[in-house]
Amino acid sequence: MPTEAAELVFDEATKVYPGRDGAAVDHLSLTVPSGEICVLVGPSGGGKTTALKLVNRLIPLTSGYIRIDGTQIGDYDVTELRRSIGYVIQQVGLFPHMTVEANIGTVPRLLGWERSRIRERVGELLELVGLDPEQDRRRFPAELSGGQRQRVGLARALAANPALMLMDEPFGAIDPIVRARLQDEFLRLQGELRKTVVFVTHDVDEAIKLGDRIAILREGGRLAQYDTPQRILEHPVDEFVADFVGRDRALKALALRTLGELELVPAGRDGGDGLPRLGADANLRDALALLIAERRDALLVVGADGSPVGVARRRDLIG
Ligand SMILES: Nc1ncnc2c1ncn2[C@@H]1O[C@H](COP(=O)(O)OP(=O)(O)OP(=O)(O)O)[C@@H](O)[C@H]1O
Ligand SMILES: [Mg+2]
Repeated sequence: MPTEAAELVFDEATKVYPGRDGAAVDHLSLTVPSGEICVLVGPSGGGKTTALKLVNRLIPLTSGYIRIDGTQIGDYDVTELRRSIGYVIQQVGLFPHMTVEANIGTVPRLLGWERSRIRERVGELLELVGLDPEQDRRRFPAELSGGQRQRVGLARALAANPALMLMDEPFGAIDPIVRARLQDEFLRLQGELRKTVVFVTHDVDEAIKLGDRIAILREGGRLAQYDTPQRILEHPVDEFVADFVGRDRALKALALRTLGELELVPAGRDGGDGLPRLGADANLRDALALLIAERRDALLVVGADGSPVGVARRRDLIG
């Protein structure tokens, strides 16, 4: 198995559960480039969890292929395959009778790491996911909040530095504030670690925030669209996708662009005096909200030092 972030390819991957009508995953083809986050979304029963379990061979393919760095998953030793894939399962799935340290150390222990190395790695990972390396390692899952448990689940999946991460609704049952913080921390971590990640969620906003690309599955595990968040919001391929991303998709798309990306009008001789001001890193949705709130048609875009960069008109934002 590769030890660096790997490319993951689904090639006509199909799963039909015995004794059930229709496929759970139907001729799924998509490539997750190495180091990217692919978010899988779709209706309940759409085959998201099945797609993840096909990758680590918890479920056998009915037909088609899945390749990791060009090698079919069936050609890897199954134990080695699973150990080099970090898996965060739906509902966290920590071992309740084991401490946080023992939970995180599961795969390293199976790999035969020395105790001192495991202890050190657990400290490093707790630090990484924002828990206390001294105090929290001795706790049991029941002594943690939902958000803390999710962090331990993430640390456990990262423990042996996997080539690939499969994350099944990892921030599922968490209040919106903690969830937003976990998302931010996950993105910061990903900036450092650059793993190849397949991330399942029900939440379209989470998909837009986290995904380099989003794969939308429809009923029966058929791929509806696989594209960047921007492309999905601006060019949904059909009604199903448009409905799925929501009526406010135009606003969501605005939130993905910044004022700095616009062609601005020069500020003119008065330097844009009297116009509302926003930084070049502000997004177009916030810019539009400001114009509406202030009942204005234009705003002055300023650089980090407050100096004028140019003027953005309302029609430039929504054009
Ligand atoms: N072990 C199994 N045996 C038979 N059918 C199964 C099995 N696991 C899942 N299914 C069926 O396959 C389909 C896809 O299920 P899956 O769990 O992959 O969906 P999901 O997209 O993860 O749903 P959710 O969003 O609710 O987690 C469903 O119709 C489900 O009932
Ligand atoms: Mg599922």
